[in-house]
This record gives sequence, C-alpha cells and structure tokens, in this order.
Amino acid sequence: MNLRIFARISPLALVSAIVLTLCSLSDCYDPMDPNGNITVTFDIYKWTTDGYMVRVTIQNYHQYRHIEKPGWKLGWTWARDEVIWSMSGAFAAQQGNCSSFKFQIPHSCKKNPVILDLIPDASPENRSEDCCHGGLLSAWAIDPSKSFSSFEIQVGNLEGSSTGHAPLNLTLMAPGPGYTCGPLVNTDPTVSSDIGGRREVQVFRTWKSTCIYSSFLANKAPVCCVSLSTFYNPRITSCPTCSCGCKDAGPNTSFCISEGTALPQSDALSDTDVVQCTNHNCPVRVHWHLKNNYLDHWRVKLTVSNYNYKRNYSSWNVLVQHPGFGQSVITYSFNSSILPTVGLEDEVALFWGIDYYNTELLQADKDQLGSVTTEILLKKDMESFTLSNGWAFPRRIYFNGESCQMPLPDNFPVLPNGSLSLNPSPHLFLLLTVTLTLKLVNSWF
Ligand SMILES: *[C@@H]1O[C@H](CO)[C@@H](O)[C@H](O)[C@H]1NC(C)=O
Ligand SMILES: *[C@@H]1O[C@H](CO)[C@@H](O)[C@H](O)[C@H]1NC(C)=O
Ligand SMILES: *[C@@H]1O[C@H](CO)[C@@H](O)[C@H](O)[C@H]1NC(C)=O
Ligand SMILES: *[C@@H]1O[C@H](CO)[C@@H](O)[C@H](O)[C@H]1NC(C)=O
Ligand SMILES: *[C@@H]1O[C@H](CO)[C@@H](O)[C@H](O)[C@H]1NC(C)=O
Ligand SMILES: *[C@@H]1O[C@H](CO)[C@@H](O)[C@H](O)[C@H]1NC(C)=O
Ligand SMILES: *[C@@H]1O[C@H](CO)[C@@H](O)[C@H](O)[C@H]1NC(C)=O
Ligand SMILES: *[C@@H]1O[C@H](CO)[C@@H](O)[C@H](O)[C@H]1NC(C)=O
Repeated sequence: MNLRIFARISPLALVSAIVLTLCSLSDCYDPMDPNGNITVTFDIYKWTTDGYMVRVTIQNYHQYRHIEKPGWKLGWTWARDEVIWSMSGAFAAQQGNCSSFKFQIPHSCKKNPVILDLIPDASPENRSEDCCHGGLLSAWAIDPSKSFSSFEIQVGNLEGSSTGHAPLNLTLMAPGPGYTCGPLVNTDPTVSSDIGGRREVQVFRTWKSTCIYSSFLANKAPVCCVSLSTFYNPRITSCPTCSCGCKDAGPNTSFCISEGTALPQSDALSDTDVVQCTNHNCPVRVHWHLKNNYLDHWRVKLTVSNYNYKRNYSSWNVLVQHPGFGQSVITYSFNSSILPTVGLEDEVALFWGIDYYNTELLQADKDQLGSVTTEILLKKDMESFTLSNGWAFPRRIYFNGESCQMPLPDNFPVLPNGSLSLNPSPHLFLLLTVTLTLKLVNSWF
C-alpha cells in the first residue's frame, strides 16, 4: 500500500530519501503518530549546600504505544562527580562504590546510575508526587492521567556555587531497547500554578530530552498478523504464512507447541515466549470479519486472539486504519476513539479494553486461545462504501504499537459472481427488532 505513495515521488527523490534515512520509513516516522515521543524533564526546584533537588518526569506522548511490564528503566551518566544522596518515588538499581563517604552514605554513587520505578503500594516515606506505577505508562490517547511518572532526587557532591551540569547520555529502556534519547538541553523553566491557579510559580532550571522509538532498534520479531473473512464468501483469508517466523526456521524463532499438546511443566521455558504452532506462528492474530451489509450501515466483528501459552497482555490496544471510520461508529464491547490524523487519506481508530471486563487479553491454554472481541457498527458514506476491491478491509492494523502483517490484496475474499445476494439486508431497525425478538425467544427457553 505504501507503493501508492512512492509512485508520486520522483525516483531520484526516492533514492536520496532511502540513502538519508538509515532505517525504513515506518521506523523513523510513524505517519499515524507523527508527534509520538517520550519526553524526560529534569526540573531543579531547590539548591542545597553541595548540589540540588530535582524532579524528573517521564511523559509518554505516544498515542497508542505504552510501557508494559516489567516497566521503564532510565539511565544517564553524570557530567561531574555527582552522587545521589537520596531519592523518593523511584530508586537506583545499584549503590556503586561509596567507599569515599565516611559519615552520611549516599543512596547511589554510580557514575552511570539506572533508575527503576517503585511499585504502587510503596511505603509513604518513599513516595513522591505522581510516582510509583511499577514502571508502567499508559498511552496518551488511552489514559493521559496515567501516561507520566515523576520521582525526586537529592543530587550532591558538586563544588560549592555550581548550578548543576545536565547529565549525559540519557538512556530509556521501555522495557526493552528501541528508544534513542536526545541530549538534555536547557529550556524555559517549567511553570505550575499555585493558590488555586491565581499565581504562577516556576522551577529554577529545566533540562529536557526527547526519546524517539524505532522498531528497527527494538529489533523485535513481528508480533501479530491479520486475517479476514466476509459474509459473502465462505473462504477465510488467513494470516500470511510465516508472518512471525516459521516453525522450522531454526532455534532462534519463537518456540511453538502444537494445539492440544500438554505444556511442558518446566521453568526452563519461563523466559521465552511459547506460542501455539500455526501457519503464521504469531503470538497475536487480529481477525476482521465483515458481518453484515445493511441499507445505511455495515457491521464488522473484530477479534483479537492470543496464541501465547505464558503471556497475558494487560491494557492491550489495537489501531485500525480504514476510511469507514470517517463516519459515525458504534463499538459495542471495546472502548474506542478516533485519532486525529494529519495528511493521512484514511481515518484511524484506536480500540482498547473496557475496565473490569476485557482490558486483559488472557493467554491461551491447551483447549482454547485467549481472545477479546467486539462488533462495530459503521455508518455508510454512500459516496464511498463498496464491497468490491477489498474496500471494506482495513488498510493497516497495529497491536500494542507494533505493525501487524496484512494478507496481500490478491488473497482478499472476493465477491461472488452475479452479486444478487449482496443487496443490503432490510433496514437496520427491522433487523434489530427481529434479532432482539429472537434473543428474547431464545432466553425464554
Ligand atoms: C514530543 O511530543 C510532544 C507532544 O506531542 C510535542 O509537542 C513535541 O514537539 C514532541 N517533540 C519532538 C522532538 O518531536
Ligand atoms: C572505590 O573508590 C575508591 C575511592 O574513590 C577507590 O580507591 C577504590 O579503588 C574503589 N574501589 C573499587 C572496588 O572500585
Ligand atoms: C524507603 O525508605 C526507607 C526509609 O527512608 C529506606 O530505608 C528504604 O531503603 C527505602 N526503600 C526504597 C525502595 O527506596
Ligand atoms: C556518551 O555516549 C557516547 C556514544 O556512545 C560515548 O562516545 C561517550 O563517551 C559517552 N559519554 C559519557 C560521558 O559516557
Ligand atoms: C541464534 O542465537 C545465537 C545466540 O543468541 C547466535 O549466536 C546465533 O548466531 C543465532 N543463529 C541464527 C541462525 O540467527
Ligand atoms: C495470566 O492470567 C491468568 C488469569 O489471571 C493467570 O492465571 C496467569 O498466571 C497469568 N499468566 C502470567 C504469565 O502471568
Ligand atoms: C474508556 O476509556 C476512558 C479513558 O481511558 C475511560 O475514562 C473510560 O472510563 C473508559 N470507558 C469504559 C467503559 O471503560
Ligand atoms: C467468476 O467468474 C470468473 C470468470 O468470469 C471465474 O474465473 C471465477 O472463477 C468466478 N468466480 C466464482 C467465485 O465463481
């Protein structure tokens, strides 16, 4: 589908674009989330005799990429001989060599400390404001109130009158590799409000860095694929073969176990992903079923299946690009939102679980896959809606921020010849009435 875009660019421009960008287009720039980044801010709010107090905030601005278990790890290299006297809201993973301190012992003397988040029920004396999420950050479009985390550090061992030196080489694991952080640069001091918003206060000094994600750097195996089906064709278009590796491709592909086989009872496999063997071998499959064609609406059933035997996906999300989301959309069993898109031809919808109902995509067991599913009712735009040429299928799907392998258009379910049977069903209202009546009758017995 990207080929369409390329066709409009001159070959020369294309070549230079490829030469200039070391990673592929989808890595360096995500057109569906052009401003996605994680911003790390150091706000110095107090001077001390030998250093300063700083509040560090990690803010996830990605629309649909979150940080999941086991959570973020933030590291840097001190520019001078700084030490961390104490911390609240997080902790340094290693104390390092503090042997030159005789009286008060610092929390960490590492030249390059790595900071980890505290768990949500950390004791009150170790907490700071907006802290302690166990390293998890929600995606911005899903829950902005849980998309950031803060902790506070008392930095010391600086020469008397110093106003601090920005740490160097910021690194962010979230939880694996994939992020590249720019240098921490001086910016306007962070301003916050006081006295019920009537007074503005500002910190002494602010350093900011932006961390950008690249799936190329993350070096992740593909995690998901897309399959399709329709009411008008019994043929199911399955995921492309070997979307996430082949069973026989060697020892380094994900380990798979045939359906119905008992799981090995060993802890030896606890660190590796174990998935059910399939033609695609993906841990996750997204299925798009075109279910009904009404006079002025159409209905899709969206199912996300988990083929992992040892992994639940908490707070999963699915992003779907489809022109039909430009019209009004009703999603029955997922929470959803239409994302703002700039310069994209097709609309983008984001789906995630409903609290206390299906935010957790459970692992498979020997009898069945883990799955979450919803029906989606879309209003028709009479100008554009069509069943031909695969229009009704999604253009692109992401699971938890990672792009899913799509079947080739050649394999899409095709319309039967002589499409008499494809006239829209009677009016939606009638159909609903009939369905409801049937349901009532059913529940009666
Ligand atoms: C990071 O994201 C924020 C919020 O979308 C945006 O204002 C900012 O410009 C982004 N920074 C970079 C360097 O892209
Ligand atoms: C610890 O630091 C002291 C003083 O800075 C140094 O003399 C000593 O060799 C260090 N110890 C180790 C094990 O690095
Ligand atoms: C929590 O605070 C106590 C007392 O201040 C301290 O001993 C302990 O190491 C802290 N725990 C963490 C994880 O920072
Ligand atoms: C920061 O990283 C660069 C590149 O990895 C390295 O050359 C440099 O020595 C590092 N600086 C410090 C202070 O660790
Ligand atoms: C498999 O992984 C091992 C170590 O992780 C590596 O040494 C080896 O080259 C890999 N083999 C292939 C075929 O990628
Ligand atoms: C996944 O969730 C189920 C049900 O809550 C739980 O029994 C199982 O241990 C979880 N699996 C992992 C790997 O945490
Ligand atoms: C949908 O998501 C929003 C934002 O996270 C949340 O406030 C709302 O309660 C959710 N709705 C349901 C039904 O879960
Ligand atoms: C539809 O017709 C074409 C030729 O007209 C034929 O090749 C194809 O097999 C037919 N498809 C079906 C589903 O009957």
